[in-house]
Order: sequence, then C-alpha cells, then structure tokens
Amino acid sequence: MSFSAIVVAAGSGLRAGAGVPKAWRKLGGRAVAQWSIEALAAAGADPIIVVVADDMQATAEAALEGGPPVALVTGGATRALSVQSGLAALRHAPDSRTVLIHDAARPFLSTGHVARLIEGLGTRAGAILALPVADTLKRQDAGNLETPSRDGLWRAQTPQAFTLGALRRGYAAWDFTGEPTDDAQVVSSIDGEVALVPGDPLLFKLTYPEDFLMAEQLAGGARQVRTGLGYDAHRWGPGDGVWLCGVRIDHDQTLIGHSDADAGLHALTDALLGALGAGDIGEHFPPSDPQWRGASSDRFLAHAADLIRARGGQITNVDVTLICERPKIQPHRDAMRARLAEILAVREDQVSVKATTTEGMGFTGREEGLAAQAIATIELPR
Ligand code: CTP
Ligand code: MG
Repeated sequence: MSFSAIVVAAGSGLRAGAGVPKAWRKLGGRAVAQWSIEALAAAGADPIIVVVADDMQATAEAALEGGPPVALVTGGATRALSVQSGLAALRHAPDSRTVLIHDAARPFLSTGHVARLIEGLGTRAGAILALPVADTLKRQDAGNLETPSRDGLWRAQTPQAFTLGALRRGYAAWDFTGEPTDDAQVVSSIDGEVALVPGDPLLFKLTYPEDFLMAEQLAGGARQVRTGLGYDAHRWGPGDGVWLCGVRIDHDQTLIGHSDADAGLHALTDALLGALGAGDIGEHFPPSDPQWRGASSDRFLAHAADLIRARGGQITNVDVTLICERPKIQPHRDAMRARLAEILAVREDQVSVKATTTEGMGFTGREEGLAAQAIATIELPR
C-alpha cells in the first residue's frame, strides 16, 4: 500500500549524552536514522520526509548519502513542532493519504511492523504500535509510595499511522497549553479513533546511554563476518637486514622487491583487501608506479584498514605466518605484533604472528626466498 512517512530526527538527544544528537550517531556502521529510513523505504514509503535540526543539515546529508531518497526539512524546538514541519512538507497530499510518523531514535523498525500497523489502521483515523505495561507501577507522592493499577495501560511506540486529514485537524485544534508527547494524543483530542496494534520490544527508543549499549549488541546481528586470505613471497639478495611485519631485523641478506619487500605486510594487506572484496595490493599500489619504489609497506596496510573503516566495518583479528629457514622470527614476534596492531589501530590481542620453516624443502627451504601467508577476519554492515 502506498503511504508517506515523516521521520522526526530534530531532537538534541540530551539524555543520551555523547555530544552528537542520537539520530546521527553510528549504530553498526550506519547512522541511527538510516536504519528506519531503510525499513520505511523497503516497506514502500514515498515520500520519506526527514525532519532535521537546523544546525544538523550537513551532518544529515552526509549520513544519508547513498541511501534511499529522502526530503530533508528543518525541525522545531519541540517534537510536536518538528512533526508539523514534516506535515507542511506534505501539504499537497490529500487528506485521505496515509502518513506514518516515526521517531528516528527507534532504529529497529522492520517492514513487518509497518505492514501490521497499516493493516491495523484500516479505515480509522489512526493506529499506533503499543505494548501492555508489564512491570508493576509505582508512584511516589509526598513520601507515599502508591501502586497504581496497570490495567488498561499501554506503552506507545512509533511508527504511528494516521490519515493526513485527521492529523492535520488534530494539530490545527491543539491548543499547546500542554506539549503532546506523541501524535495519537493529538488525533484522539479531536475524537479521532486510534487503534492499538501489538508493538515490539525491539522498537524501544534510544533515550539513555545504556540504550545505545543494548542497541550495539542487537546491531551485531545485522553485521556480516568476512574473511580474506593473502600470500606473498620475495627473493633473497645481498644486504644487511630485512623488513618483516613492519619491523627491521638485522640479517646477512635482504628481500628484493619494488617496495621494501615486506612480505608479511603485503600478505596481510591482501588478506584485508580480500575480506573486503576490494581487489589486491597490486591494483591499489601498482608496482609500475614509481611513487611506490622503496615505499614503506605500512602505508599499504594502513590504506586497507582505512577502506574497511570507511565501509563502517572493523577488524576482528588477523594472523600472519612467515615461512623461512632464517632469520629466526621468534625473538621479534612481540615487536611485530605491536607494530601490526599500531598500523591497523587494533589491540595487540587481535594480532597474531607465527613462523615456520619448511625443513629444507622448496624455495624457502633452499633459502632462495621467504614467503608469508595471512588471514584476516572483519565485520561489515550488511
Ligand atoms: N525530536 C524532534 N524535534 C525535537 C525534539 C525531538 O524531531 N525538537 C525527535 C527526536 O529526534 C527523536 C524523537 O523526536 O527521534 C523522540 O524524541 P526524544 O527521544 O525526546 O529525543 P531527543 O529530544 O533528541 O532527546 P532528549 O529529549 O533526551 O534531548
Ligand atoms: Mg526530547
């Protein structure tokens, strides 16, 4: 069914702390507001009006870029005024049109919630998602602790669905001596019939800092785990030292290569690019390009880590195996782990470096060259 949507995201999020208003904080790699915008778009909302605080327009534009098309409008000092800014943007739509009003601060919206709500609306003026109050209620009043009955009490959530006409009439009639905290209140005040439709605990509103902790846990389920493999080998040649996993080791030979020939860093860079599905190190840093001659390979690795972060992802762990008869790697392992952790900006316990010989067999055994293998596990938003 066709409907319009207004997402109110113009609050300042004072109770949640942390500076940035909550709609524009990241959750699982996406702005909080983006979660519900995507669900509304998937459910068929058109247009989607996003109400944004005046000083957050640029932040909102950047956060929503690449997502479903939306129209941004400027909000007001209260939620009710922000809803009315959204309504003004729909002034050309007929009274019979269905409109959903949704708090950006409730990110775990699904197409199922929307379908249930619109079905519940039927031919009424409004329908809201709500949950029966489950906890015992207390009211502290001048030292007395009372236990009001919870019979017939519901917690109202969003989205809330209305006919545009009922919502327009409700706001036109509201005297604003009291601030409405939801839109059903406004429609009920003009005797519009509002249906209660079963809500969902997942539609909780991000209000306090601990709500963000819970949301991060839930958002984890919306991330994909990916792995990538990398392999590299370089030939031994005359020299007095070698770079391996970003650490210089004194040695009676060196590895020959276009850059610093750090096979450990190259294998790991390829593993990260592989996990991302972003080609290989040669595509990003062509050996034919003179600017990479003698280059320190930590730049390649840092670039791969930046690409992952730019996609809203994070590195879970990496593991490198160096294959050579000499030099002995064990004395340098801790320094290598520390350096890799530093380049990747992760903790040392997310990094492993191992070494093995091939017992004299093959090109590594004959000491013609050194090889490195790496595996990386990362998380990306779905
Ligand atoms: N909202 C809005 N315009 C306002 C106030 C609130 O669009 N002037 C929106 C918020 O962005 C949020 C929703 O209304 O998506 C619910 O409000 P609330 O949870 O109170 O959010 P904030 O007002 O941002 O938070 P706080 O009250 O803690 O400052
Ligand atoms: Mg508020």
